[in-house]
Amino acid sequence: MAWGIRSVAPHAVRMIRPVVDLTRDGRRLVDRIQDRSARIGIVGLGYVGLPTAVAYTEAGFTVVGIDTNVDRCAAVMAAESYIEDVPASDLQRCREHDRLTAATSLESAGDLDVIDICVHTPLGETREPDTSAIETVGEAVLAAQRPGQLVLLTSTSYPGTTEDVLRPIIERAGLVIGNNAFLAFAPERIDPGNRRFQLRNTPKILGGVDPASTEIAHLVLSTIVDVVVPVRDATTAEMVKALENTFRMVNIGFANEVAKICRRLGVDVWEVIESAATKPYGFMPFYPGPGVGGHCIPVDPAYLQWKMRNLEFPTPLIDLGNEMNRSMPDYVVRRAGDVLNDIGRSVRGARVLLIGVAYKPNIGDVRESPAVEVAQRLHDRGAVVRYVDPHVAELMINDATAVERVDLTVAELEASELVVITTAHDQTDWALVRQHAPLVLDTRGVRGQGRPGWHTL
Ligand SMILES: NC(=O)c1ccc[n+]([C@@H]2O[C@H](COP(=O)([O-])OP(=O)(O)OC[C@H]3O[C@@H](n4cnc5c(N)ncnc54)[C@H](O)[C@@H]3O)[C@@H](O)[C@H]2O)c1
Repeated sequence: MAWGIRSVAPHAVRMIRPVVDLTRDGRRLVDRIQDRSARIGIVGLGYVGLPTAVAYTEAGFTVVGIDTNVDRCAAVMAAESYIEDVPASDLQRCREHDRLTAATSLESAGDLDVIDICVHTPLGETREPDTSAIETVGEAVLAAQRPGQLVLLTSTSYPGTTEDVLRPIIERAGLVIGNNAFLAFAPERIDPGNRRFQLRNTPKILGGVDPASTEIAHLVLSTIVDVVVPVRDATTAEMVKALENTFRMVNIGFANEVAKICRRLGVDVWEVIESAATKPYGFMPFYPGPGVGGHCIPVDPAYLQWKMRNLEFPTPLIDLGNEMNRSMPDYVVRRAGDVLNDIGRSVRGARVLLIGVAYKPNIGDVRESPAVEVAQRLHDRGAVVRYVDPHVAELMINDATAVERVDLTVAELEASELVVITTAHDQTDWALVRQHAPLVLDTRGVRGQGRPGWHTL
């Protein structure tokens, strides 16, 4: 789908960004951004907010990070990083002369020129969007009632959030958007653990609720990213973000279905996908696995589904992709039962070692990780579960049960009746696994096929 973004971007820049006559407040904000006297507040110092705060500081602004999590604020003040992609040395540089500080409340919102909302947007108990953190921040900004600010929403949400949730809050303060208040949505595309594409060299989609907001947001974003791609409005930008992550979720769902088809046909799904990927056009590889995880791929499509359900508009493809992915942890546990059964063992009482429990390789994030669900289901069925993951210090299942963490050793592998590969971190010694694991269920396509006792999805 890269064609959509790349070919549309230059056209969109020419066609959609008109020359804007800014008001006095708008021009003042532009001046402050240009001479770097603008004060920038980043609300939410997580996987997205912390690197963003560092980027604005490195761009020459004075930045305040605001997070209700006291520990995160203390860590920033002590220049200690808790996000793998942000080196402590970056924080140390930013902390010099207090160019970057952290606070636990938005009390000082009135002093800020730009407020960038990077709070979490999780799912509620019935998988409905929980945008309460965005609303709380909006209310705090409203309480500060300061004309001439730009409010930028970076958190992912359903199409319409900026217009339906933030615009009314700002207008309740008596401010006029485009005149003495500015509001835009510019979603984050950060890919934790990706060393090639980071904040600066990943183009940024931007949609303001009016042309002046787009203009000013474009200026400030251009200080931290090389390419800004303005689109028609905030709802379009929200839909771009929804498309990107839903595209990925549905295609992973399809790859999971292909894995099941290949099993039935007795062919190797990894060989099929990698061979298809040699076609230089018209095919983009997606890979099967134990399910999808993280804060984006399992969550963002659910935001879109919820929005469309409210409009009584069906989304059958998205629903099916989601169902397929959500069925995978259960499928993995059934496969585990099958391969144990083949050697005359049952899940109950079996010693099972999970290799990799983060939701993707080379990071330590276990949010929504399918490996956690696999561990939980195996535990519930009576298996004695342990895990290896150099990035994940502790793993809790069923809310309060800690899974034992072990090192990847010959003794551990040989003592395990079954090894399930749930995440393939680069640093894992696969030769050791191939040589010493008696029985393997590989859900990630680590090469070992053909070896006795090596099974795939
Ligand atoms: N993690 C990713 O890879 C990624 C990528 C692209 C987009 N996103 C989106 O970016 C947003 C942030 O994700 P994240 O992974 O950084 O989340 P996170 O949970 O790591 O960080 C969110 C932070 O917001 C803080 N917070 C919550 N409510 C607050 C409030 N009222 N005031 C101040 N701070 C508050 C939390 O304490 C937390 O530190 C989400 O919408 C997510 O979907 C995430």
